[in-house]
Parts: sequence; C-alpha cells; structure tokens
Amino acid sequence: MNFYPRFVRPLLFTLNPEWLHHTLIQQLHQLSNQEGLRRFVHQQFSYNHLALHQQIWDCHFPNPLGLAAGFDKDGLAWHWWSDFGFGFAELGTVTPTAQLGNPPPRLFRLPQDQGIINRMGFNNQGVAHLEKQLTQEKLINTWEPEKRQIPIGINLGKGKNTPLDRAWQDYLYGFQCLKNYGDYFVINVSSPNTPNLRDLQVQSLLKTILEALQQENGREKPLLIKISPDLENGAIIDILELVTTYHLAGVIATNTTITRPHLKSPHAQEMGGLSGRPLTRRSTEVIHLIYQQMHGQLPIIGVGGIFSAADAWEKITAGACLLQIYTGWVYRGPGIVKEILLGLVEKLTALNLTTITQAVGLAHHSDWLSYNNPK
Ligand SMILES: Cc1cc2nc3c(=O)[nH]c(=O)nc-3n(C[C@H](O)[C@H](O)[C@H](O)COP(=O)(O)O)c2cc1C
Repeated sequence: MNFYPRFVRPLLFTLNPEWLHHTLIQQLHQLSNQEGLRRFVHQQFSYNHLALHQQIWDCHFPNPLGLAAGFDKDGLAWHWWSDFGFGFAELGTVTPTAQLGNPPPRLFRLPQDQGIINRMGFNNQGVAHLEKQLTQEKLINTWEPEKRQIPIGINLGKGKNTPLDRAWQDYLYGFQCLKNYGDYFVINVSSPNTPNLRDLQVQSLLKTILEALQQENGREKPLLIKISPDLENGAIIDILELVTTYHLAGVIATNTTITRPHLKSPHAQEMGGLSGRPLTRRSTEVIHLIYQQMHGQLPIIGVGGIFSAADAWEKITAGACLLQIYTGWVYRGPGIVKEILLGLVEKLTALNLTTITQAVGLAHHSDWLSYNNPK
C-alpha cells in the first residue's frame, strides 16, 4: 500500500511538476481508446459498494469522491476518471477563449507541508475546444445518461481581460456552449490567480452572474458556486442568501487559499493558491458553516486537503454529500481513491449505517455529539 509514496513519488517529484502533469494528461489522452489498459486500470483502482451510491440532482453518483477542477482543465482525459475510481469528475476551469495563463514557473510542490502552490491563471484551450473533446469520436453517445459511467461537472471561469462588470457574459457564454454536455456546472469566482476574480463573490456582482445564468438555465441543470476559504464567515453567509434566492443546486467548499499557515517548505512564499494539508481544517470549517446555515438542505461538495478516509469522513459528517480531491491524489497516488472508499465503508459498517447519505452532517446531530464526546 505504501508503494507509491515510497518508490514512485520520490522519482516523480524529481521532475518538473508542470511538465509531469502535462505529460500525464497528454498520455492519457493518447491512450483513451485502449480498452484493455483502461480495464486494467479500472480493476486496480476502482471500488464499488452499494452503500456509497447516491442520487443527487437526478444524477447517479457511484461513489462520493470526485476529481477536483484544475486537473483536467480541457477534458483531454475525461474518459479515464471513472477507471481511476472517481465517482465524478469536474473539468475546467474553462474560459470563453483559449488563454496561456501566467508565465512559468507557476506550480510548486511543498513536500514538507503536503501542499501545492499554483498560480496557473486559468491556462486552458477555451470553451469550443472542451466542447469538441466531449463530443468527438462518437463519444457523444456517452452523453446519454444510461451509457455514462460517472457524472461530469464543468467549471466555468471568466477570461483574464474581461472587466468584472462584464464577467457575467463570460460565464453565460460558457454555459450556453456547454449546457448539453455537463451534468452540473460550477461558477468559479474563487481562484486567486485571475486578477480580482474573487471580488465577484461580493453580492452585487455575483447577483448579475446568477441572474443571467439561471435565466438561461431555467433551473434545468444544477448550478453550483465554488467559494474561497479566505472569505470571512459573514461573507459566506451573504453568498448563501444569493444561493437561496437564485435556487443554486449547491456550493463547492473550497478553492485554494492565499494564506500561508506555518509552512516549512522552501517554496512556501511563492504567490498563488495553496492546496493540500494546510487547507484541510479551514475547508471543513466552511462546510460546517454552510451545513448549519442551510439546515442541511443544500448539497455541499467538500474539497481541500483530503488525504485519507478519516479526512473524507470528517468532511462528510461536517455536511458534505460529495467530495473532491486534487493534491492528495498527487501525494498519495491513484491508490488513494480506493483506499478512501474502503475506509468510508468501514466507518459506515462500524456505525451500523447502510448508506453514505446517513453520514452526511452527522457531526451536527446531538446523538452523534454525545456519542463522540461522552461526559
Ligand atoms: C494545480 C492546481 C490547479 C487548479 N486549478 C483549478 C481551476 O482551474 N479551477 C478551480 O476551480 N480550482 C482549481 N484548483 C483548486 C482545486 O480544485 C481544489 O479546490 C483545491 O486544490 C483544494 O483541494 P486539494 O487540497 O485536494 O487540492 C486547482 C488546484 C491546483 C493544485
């Protein structure tokens, strides 16, 4: 079980992180139609258990652990994510047109902290290119829900040079072009690497975006918002007001942080968004807050510093019905998905629960609290 961190990671971590990531995605893209290889990967890394299945927004999630946005921005490897065991995958962030992002170096490992700092800046090939990935090679058929293996989310952003008061047009354009190809959509207003993007979390600006998208959507597709862990709790509550007003389907908590809590790694002071272990606590706090404020009625996707089944369980019992992972996958390798899913089933069994849904928000129930904190 320790094979990856012991032998593979030390080797991979000698390579330039962005080159490595790019090469992996390109290779997966090239190998997309290698059925035998995909079957092998599937056997190695996936795990199916009925207790982990959920039906959310009319979508079937075979398990609660998804791939977070940013890993497969252009959807080049999207066929693979179910084979790697993920219960869903989020593509993007995608902007209306292709952009290069910030100049390299822009991706840094922080091994002593189990973190990553990135200032990629929405490097992606644009909406039309993503649409092509999702429709070419007769794969359009896979968009028939019964043929699809896992739900696919699409994370939408604004172009670097689009002024904030016109940002709604970028989100709307992305949604209009890709509406038919995603199972859910994410309004990303929380990446720290596009100048002023996070200002869109302010009520007045956010309102315009939500209004435009829901008008186009007619509440047909689930629309979610992804928020920053650096918001004050009061600002999160303001956002939740809009979430209710505009009937959003859920919140993703959280994106990366610009804070630098007690880091030891040499690259700790690089500019950009920090992910991984240093984010675990704050993102779980945000999940607790949202669950409380929304009385457990709003689906939450919990993301930030998940490295183990215990981390995943904390976020589920805090109130997340779905989870996502990025940095943990890089540090622990592809085996982490199965390991976490097995661990979750073990926890359910130990508590005599039959489905993961019963564990969502459990930490807020008084019987659970007294069970865990006996006087
Ligand atoms: C290299 C890198 C690129 C990312 N790009 C995006 C992105 O394009 N859009 C987005 O919403 N989040 C992006 N994220 C944030 C992740 O989706 C996730 O919210 C964050 O990393 C916390 O999860 P983790 O601790 O499991 O990595 C990126 C993260 C990393 C490390």
